[in-house]
Parts: sequence; C-alpha cells; structure tokens
Amino acid sequence: KVPLPIKQPKYNLVQNFKFAPLFRTENIKSGLNYKAKDSDKFIVTFPKCGTTWTMQICVLLFNDGDVPNDVAEKTLYVRIPFLESMGAQAIDQTSSLTAIKTHLPFDLTPYNPNAKYIYVARNPKDACVSFYHHHKLFREYEFDGSFHDFMLCWLNGEIECGSYKDNLLSWWNHKDDDNVLFLLYEEMKDNIREAILKMATFFGKEYRTKIEENAEILNKIVKNSDFTFMKQTTNKSFEMRSRANAAIAENRDYEFIRKGIVGDWKNHFTDEDNQLFEAWFRDSFSGSEIESLWDK
Ligand code: A3P
Repeated sequence: KVPLPIKQPKYNLVQNFKFAPLFRTENIKSGLNYKAKDSDKFIVTFPKCGTTWTMQICVLLFNDGDVPNDVAEKTLYVRIPFLESMGAQAIDQTSSLTAIKTHLPFDLTPYNPNAKYIYVARNPKDACVSFYHHHKLFREYEFDGSFHDFMLCWLNGEIECGSYKDNLLSWWNHKDDDNVLFLLYEEMKDNIREAILKMATFFGKEYRTKIEENAEILNKIVKNSDFTFMKQTTNKSFEMRSRANAAIAENRDYEFIRKGIVGDWKNHFTDEDNQLFEAWFRDSFSGSEIESLWDK
C-alpha cells in the first residue's frame, strides 16, 4: 500500500464515486440517471487520456472536416456535452448533438446496446503526469502539492474519478463488444489517419466511404485536430469558459492542451516514483494483456 501525502486535491464524492469539486451534485445525479438512446455516441476516458482530442475528431468527422462556428466561438461542449458535469438536461437541450463525453467506468455509464462507445486509454504514467498539470491549471482542486504528492493520491485512487485501474479494466472487459471501439492515445499519435478511419468505420460505413472518397475531408480532419492547431484554438476557448465562471479560474502558468507527447513521464518521475508506479502496474494488471500495451 502506498501512503497518502498530507497535500491532497479536492473532489466531490457522490454515490460513492469521485467527481470534480465544482460539478453540481444535481447535475451529477441527473447525468448518472441519463437513459442512453439508440443513437447516442459516447466518448469515454479516464481523465487526460485524449478525451478532448477525440471530441475534436468526432465533431470534425460529422462536419466534413471543418470546425463549426459554434464550437470555435464557444467550446466543444456545445456539441459534446459532458454528462456528469452538465447533467442529462444538457444532452436533451443540445440541438447539434455529436456525442456525449464521460469519464465514468462501464458500470456507471448509461448503457444502451444500440448506442456506441469509444473508449480511449493512455499509458497510465503519462495520464498521471497530465492529470497533475490539470490539477495545477484549475484552482478548484486547491492542490498545492508536488508531483510526487499527486502521484501518491493518483495511485491510491484518491482523486477525481478514483482509480484508473478500475476504469480501464471495466472497459477493457468490453473492448470486443460490437458497440465499443477501444483506442489508445499512443496509436492516435502513431497514425492519426488510421485512427480517424477506425472511428469513421465504427460510426457507420457511410462515414468511412465519405472520407475515403474525399481525401480533402480526411486532410482537413487531420489538420484541424492537430496538436498545434488545438493548442491555439481549444486552449483559447477553454480560457474563455473559465473567464465566464470565476470559480474554475485557471492558473495562467498552465495550459489544457499542454505537451501532447508520448513518454512525458520520463521528465517527471524519479527512480523511486517509477518503482512505486511499476509495483502499482503489476498489482493492477498482472496476467492481463494490458501489461504489454505500453512501453516501459
Ligand atoms: P498532456 O498534458 O500530456 O499534454 P484530456 O482531453 O483527456 O483531458 O487529455 C488531455 C491530454 O491530451 C493533454 O496531454 C493534451 O495536451 C493532450 N492532447 C490534447 N489534444 C491533443 C492533440 N491534438 N494531439 C495530441 N495530444 C493532445
């Protein structure tokens, strides 16, 4: 067992699951009670595994590769509401609904056998480093500890969304279901065109045919979901959102679309951190194929 540090980030415990401190309890409950429709498409992740990137690709896929004006002027949330943050009513009120974002484990995610679920996983080490920066960016967590402090909380599941192990295993068990597409952040980094084609096929052959027959659309999706482009545009729209809501004030020393690389953990982990993490990884996934998903 890894000890907990004195400095820990805040979260909001509702129905035994940990949510971001500022999510309103009524929205969380309404999100948890949402009845998934046949036509729903969910983008599911543990935090920092590539949610926003996948959201951007989905919006582009359903808009011929262009960033829609409402998304450019506001945020991706105008087309992809965040279930547990915004509640079920936000989904019903979204006129150009593209998908629904959630960080819930399988058993808490509203399920409909005809709905579609994209799950994106990322190397836990990089996801942990990225979540640390996220906790520094948003003041709502009131976290002023070090990376090592954060990592101890993360390994204990004492953070928003709890344990990555539980989240990942819950979806891994469904990765071969017809209505689940299991993707890795690393495969998106490695070959984004292939990942976009996989998503298009998953949504329906007609989407794949469309982008295969029109190279221009696929090129636009690639360009408009590129890290540099998103760093310029998405960060700005997230900043506007937090300016509109002082409570989620951002610390300007940090950015949401931050580095976007594979292996940034090597710049943050000490040898001791790595040993703790490796032990957690073995405890969590030994005997599962998950063990060989990521480079050590
Ligand atoms: P880093 O903090 O490692 O840079 P989420 O959207 O799930 O919160 O994940 C955020 C992570 O995805 C951040 O990782 C962010 O930089 C990265 N990311 C966002 N857009 C990306 C893109 N277009 N290409 C690669 N990485 C991206």
